[in-house]
Amino acid sequence: MAETGKDINKAKELLVKGELVAIPTETVYGLAANALNADAVLKIFQVKNRPRFDPLIIHVSSWNKVALYARDIPSVAHDLAEAFWPGPLTLLFEKKNIIPDLVTSGLPTVGIRCPDHPLTHSLLESLDFPLAAPSANPFGYISPTTPQHVADQLGDRIPYILDGGPCQVGIESTIVGFDNAGGIVFRTGGLKIEDIEKVIGKVRLQITSSSNPKTPGQLRSHYAPKKKLIAGELDELLRAYETAKVGILSFQKDHNVPFQFILSPSGDPDEAARNFFSALRSLDALPVDLILAEYVPDRGLGKAINDRLRRAAAGE
Ligand code: TXA
Ligand code: MG
Repeated sequence: MAETGKDINKAKELLVKGELVAIPTETVYGLAANALNADAVLKIFQVKNRPRFDPLIIHVSSWNKVALYARDIPSVAHDLAEAFWPGPLTLLFEKKNIIPDLVTSGLPTVGIRCPDHPLTHSLLESLDFPLAAPSANPFGYISPTTPQHVADQLGDRIPYILDGGPCQVGIESTIVGFDNAGGIVFRTGGLKIEDIEKVIGKVRLQITSSSNPKTPGQLRSHYAPKKKLIAGELDELLRAYETAKVGILSFQKDHNVPFQFILSPSGDPDEAARNFFSALRSLDALPVDLILAEYVPDRGLGKAINDRLRRAAAGE
């Protein structure tokens, strides 16, 4: 069983040896390995049961490291990093050869992010390599936002979980790439598109397609609980499934049913994002046959929550 603790030196020792460590970030917990060591990175794919065609992002301690791993860095990327790093923003760059092809699943680009968490920041500063880290969940399942979530699912497969408490954003990073015409958002996430556009102007969204070769990870069945999830208008769904044993995921309103999670009684999308994955996990563990969920207002982090709800609803 994995040990859980706050010992950065222990985490460092394991990572230097090519072992895996679960690390806290402001978005979700990551399953980290030395990104420059293909043998270590391979363990990530094995432990998560993740297909090799789904590339990993790498984590660095500051913008200064980016040029070690990326080439042809656009100035708008620098502008975004200056505005939002450390933070829930992953930037896509042309990769340098030092990044193993396994990390990027053979793509010419690499996703790089500087996470905003004091423990992980100190850890990254103490290492002379970046950390490849996908979310620390079995492939396709709900992302973990507490050390316990990680222990529940991967505890018997990794040696150490660095305990940084519950994640403060609660939803994965926003992924932005660039072409000659500007910024492209490939995954909505913890950084609002509205905020990105204040810095680099209008961006294009390429997030709905499940077959986009540039976003092999954007499979529709991502983030899925084990139970069937139906998303829509809750009052209607409650009527339609009157006789079923249901659990519900409500944004703000109390629906007065035995098994319900309310994401934000005050109607705050940021609070809803923080609670979202945890609520889905709890619902999945309840004695219900079906999860009914409502979409949240499609602004701010609401966009990212709705994207994950759509994918969860498409899962098996
Ligand atoms: O907030 C986050 O980004 C978290 C924390 C741990 O940092 N990490 C995370 O990793 O969500 P993961 O592997 O669960 O999701 C990364 C996504 C995948 O869907 C992958 O397909 C996409 O990023 N991705 C990675 N590299 C890419 C690339 N070069 N081009 C396009 N998409 C890429
Ligand atoms: Mg993930």
